[in-house]
Amino acid sequence: MRTQVGIVGAGPAGLLLSHLLALRGIESVVVEIRSRAYCEARQRAGVLEDGSVRLLREAGLAGRLDRQGLEHGGIYLQFAGERHHIDFRALTGSRTVTVYAQTEIVKDLIAQRIADGAAVHFDVSDTEVADLTSDRPVLRYTDSDGKRNELTCDVIAGCDGFHGISRPAIPAGLVTVREREYPYAWLGILADVPPSTDELIYAHHRNGFALHSLRSLSVSRLYLQVDPDEAIEDWPDERIWEELGSRFDLPGSGWELNQGPVLDKGITPMRSFVSAPMRYGRLFLAGDAAHIVPPTGAKGLNLAMADVAVLAPALEALLKGDERLADAYSSTCLSRVWRATHFSWWMTTMLHRTPGADDMEAALQLSQLRYVTSSRAAATSLAENYTGYPADVADELGLKLPR
Ligand code: FAD
Ligand code: DHB
Repeated sequence: MRTQVGIVGAGPAGLLLSHLLALRGIESVVVEIRSRAYCEARQRAGVLEDGSVRLLREAGLAGRLDRQGLEHGGIYLQFAGERHHIDFRALTGSRTVTVYAQTEIVKDLIAQRIADGAAVHFDVSDTEVADLTSDRPVLRYTDSDGKRNELTCDVIAGCDGFHGISRPAIPAGLVTVREREYPYAWLGILADVPPSTDELIYAHHRNGFALHSLRSLSVSRLYLQVDPDEAIEDWPDERIWEELGSRFDLPGSGWELNQGPVLDKGITPMRSFVSAPMRYGRLFLAGDAAHIVPPTGAKGLNLAMADVAVLAPALEALLKGDERLADAYSSTCLSRVWRATHFSWWMTTMLHRTPGADDMEAALQLSQLRYVTSSRAAATSLAENYTGYPADVADELGLKLPR
């Protein structure tokens, strides 16, 4: 079997790449180890930068996003019993973010690929990539009927997340990894209850960080900092609500946290990880396959989308014999990745409590939080990083669209 681009992984990076390539008349095959239902239900990110929204819109993928996404013009930072608003619109010249769940983006992308007749194979196993330095790299997998397949490609895109097989296929001696594990994790819940806030609340508290996000006007998404070795079984719903209640408490304000049935819960470890370069011969890595950020800056999904917005035109040129954009792919992406890596580390260390830390840590964090909420320069820095980087993904890359 033969295709132009073999894509490993049907997460946001792999699916969006397949669609952006199709807009350029390039054929691809996507292989995914999980089922379609699993990919569509996996609870993850929820905040889109302006540039990501524009990219989806210009790629014809924003029908539901435009109807159901919630535009937010700021966030709240809470600490020392005070809640402060950071006004993105006022600070950045009208830039905003949009709350629209990753699950919905994945559903929209899968529906569009299937409607367009694309090859997206779920439930595959034993994915392998080979011959990566030749101009005919090979993607092998066993399909859901148990049949072994070999796909000869012009290029392979490794979009298979942090635990995939693509990154380890690059010889270790050619890779530089920068990594930091944090001594905490996030316990996340999805709750069938209207959010108790109009915009996200990032809370610093002596018991640890908490985040109040949402998925819609009737569904809330909330997170608590916990130890990385905590078992979810030790967190019955009542304990979670009680801890959320204390971390968001604003004595004397009359504000209350709405509680409701918990629809989903899980614990996510936190790390920063960057593997460079993002290319080896005819293998190109995109998204979590190449880099991970701790979730505090809401950057992971946006970085995955930004990578493939760079990769699609680079592969189009490569397939026509011009390697210049492909040669620049890794360094183009890594400059954005490192900015987001720094911002995510900064937000994370400003807001979380390090187990065993002395009073110095909290005093420094509170000083930084007070500065960010009182200095226009400091607030602008947070706002411009949170809403995304000025280079507008779609325009910058000259995305060519058929309609
Ligand atoms: P993924 O979404 O991981 O997709 C990779 C796909 O490849 C998966 O479908 C996987 O099943 C498939 N795959 C893996 N191995 C193989 C293989 N061998 N063969 C074929 N397919 C394979 N970001 C935020 O901004 N906010 C959050 O709250 C947040 N929460 C997160 C919670 C969790 C548990 C995780 C893991 C990530 C979270 N992120 C969050 C990060 C964000 O969701 C990711 O950055 C985003 O999913 C990256 O998209 P991707 O397509 O690169 O990778
Ligand atoms: C969400 C996740 C984040 O990591 C974040 O910083 C903001 C929102 C969310 O899942 O809604």
